[in-house]
Amino acid sequence: MAAYDDRDGKIWMDGKLVEWRDANVHILTHGLHYASSVFEGERCYNGKIFESRKHSERLHYSAGQLDFEIPYTVDEIEAAKMEVLRANGFENAYVRAVAWRGAGEDMGVASARNPVRLAIAAWEWGAYYGDAKMKGAKLDISKWKRPSPETIPSHAKAAGLYMICTLSKHAAEAKGCSDAMMFDYRGYVAEATGANIFFVKDGEVHTPDPDCFLNGITRQTVIGMLKDRQVKVHERHIMPEELEGFEQCWLTGTAAEVTPVGQIGDYNFEVGALTRDIAESYEKLVRA
Ligand SMILES: Cc1ncc(COP(=O)(O)O)c(C=O)c1O
Repeated sequence: MAAYDDRDGKIWMDGKLVEWRDANVHILTHGLHYASSVFEGERCYNGKIFESRKHSERLHYSAGQLDFEIPYTVDEIEAAKMEVLRANGFENAYVRAVAWRGAGEDMGVASARNPVRLAIAAWEWGAYYGDAKMKGAKLDISKWKRPSPETIPSHAKAAGLYMICTLSKHAAEAKGCSDAMMFDYRGYVAEATGANIFFVKDGEVHTPDPDCFLNGITRQTVIGMLKDRQVKVHERHIMPEELEGFEQCWLTGTAAEVTPVGQIGDYNFEVGALTRDIAESYEKLVRA
């Protein structure tokens, strides 16, 4: 596949469609230097973006957390996403919206005088973890911890929060793993680098309380699916030593969808019936 800046197609940028290769920014863009950038990852299935509005609302929320306001309403963002998909002829695609502080009068840490910009791109993107959907993904355990909400706006989907995710994922891939599980600043189990995590034990589900990381839209969907099945869901702090006793594990995320996990560090999990049921039902739901 060609590099991401060298493809045919259209990208929506600041209110209009531009040629893919012309969707560029200046080198003195504030977001590039200081991470004043927020984004969304969404998936369009059969012409419809799953939970589209929730993603656009979260983009607005994330921008607010970084002290900027996106100069387009949620309705305008909704329309722009569909415009991008239509312009590229996509029915099934990943959609990436990104908003950032552009180049302007400020080039120090403060950026209040710089314009806020918005771009939306879409591309065809298959399974995020390759064949892990069948076998179960192998995860490393990251040395990096999800930070305290007193350190960074940890519920925003903000570029700066991904620095340690990239480092974790590089280390994981170097060990032959698909991803890494991260603990939080208190030592509780948190999430993977781009997905939330669930465990099964004795027919009940345990998932970390998202009090210092993203409460994913997929996570919330899957909790609803489990509750519909009368499966008990415990949203709570999970200690590292509990990993040993969990029987099944899966990840949730827009890109990851529902991906079974077979291994985290030295702990093994079976790709069991509940994992398969939730993964298959999620695939049906997003295409319904
Ligand atoms: C760090 C992180 N956690 C969780 C998620 C899952 O969020 P969602 O289900 O809203 O895509 C994502 C993916 O966007 C993520 O990047």
